[in-house]
Amino acid sequence: MKNSFFHSIKIGNLDVTGNIFVAPLAGYTNLPTRLLYRKQGASIAYAEMVSAEGLNYNFGKSVKLIDTCNEDKLLGVQLFGYNAERFISAFEKIKNENFDIIDINCGCSVKKIIKSNSGAALLKSPDEIYRTIKGLKELTDKPVTLKIRSGWDLQSINYTEVYDAAEKAGAALITLHPRTKSMLFSGKADWQHIKQLKQYSKIPVIGNGDIFTADDAVRMFEETGCDGIMLARGIIENPFLIEEIIAKLTGNIYIPKSHEEKLDAAVLHCRKLEEYMQNSERAMVEFRKFFHGYVKGLPGVSNLRSVVNTIKSCDEFAKTVDLYKERILVRN
Ligand SMILES: Cc1cc2nc3c(=O)[nH]c(=O)nc-3n(C[C@H](O)[C@H](O)[C@H](O)COP(=O)(O)O)c2cc1C
Repeated sequence: MKNSFFHSIKIGNLDVTGNIFVAPLAGYTNLPTRLLYRKQGASIAYAEMVSAEGLNYNFGKSVKLIDTCNEDKLLGVQLFGYNAERFISAFEKIKNENFDIIDINCGCSVKKIIKSNSGAALLKSPDEIYRTIKGLKELTDKPVTLKIRSGWDLQSINYTEVYDAAEKAGAALITLHPRTKSMLFSGKADWQHIKQLKQYSKIPVIGNGDIFTADDAVRMFEETGCDGIMLARGIIENPFLIEEIIAKLTGNIYIPKSHEEKLDAAVLHCRKLEEYMQNSERAMVEFRKFFHGYVKGLPGVSNLRSVVNTIKSCDEFAKTVDLYKERILVRN
């Protein structure tokens, strides 16, 4: 299939060559992992969300979350916080760092974040969102974007109201994950909300929520008319999803990865984390979160899984993978 869904996109003053976005994923979208997603063709990747208060009070620790390099392009930095002045003072501290887009988190529904009136709690205050974006726009030429849910709960769906405030303040793009805060991750993302927002919006609308396969990606474009898609859990569950989607959208045949290729990619990911973190044990702990995605569907994998949970270094992991290849894969 070839269609016009995969295309360039303009975000404020930025010309972006494609429209497949990697979501901000706390605990996942670190620098080496973003670079792997970029190799597959992701046009924009967001770093893990960063606390505005963290930047205000403990700059050194928080700024590490937006560590980057020249190949890490285009980079979105996302802040979470509760109040325009605090967002602005946090932004002042990072405005000279190397990134391309600044995003305001209006969707995180984790208890601790909501308790501090941040994340999806901001949906209750479109005025605060307006003041935040307006304030940031006065400080930077970089596009200011926002990522939202549909509303606080089913009785208070207000994504158009939030959009109005953001667009009036000068937002360059809006991403909608069409669940409410109360739904957390339950039920289904209601893509009709993305369709309605796209029809209403003057700025690009990025569709997010429940894209787990290349067919889901096509359906998201078909059913909503969105300008681009943002991938989140889908790329954790299937680390090759981006290239699968791009192949489908560009009319190329996707050759699924062999078992060996999946395992080699897993070892490479682990090594990249090790290289970046300069600590093999910590890298291995970090990598465990990604491991299950690489080995889904491989034969006799439960034993490999339990061994991986006890392994303390990337060398040990590489050796374990070699043994598994010799003992299990040659027989299958
Ligand atoms: C582990 C994890 C971490 C997340 N971290 C963030 C984050 O830092 N900022 C944010 O806006 N959303 C975050 N999200 C939400 C995702 O970006 C996305 O909106 C949500 O998972 C819906 O998309 P999906 O159905 O494709 O997973 C996170 C989700 C998960 C599962």
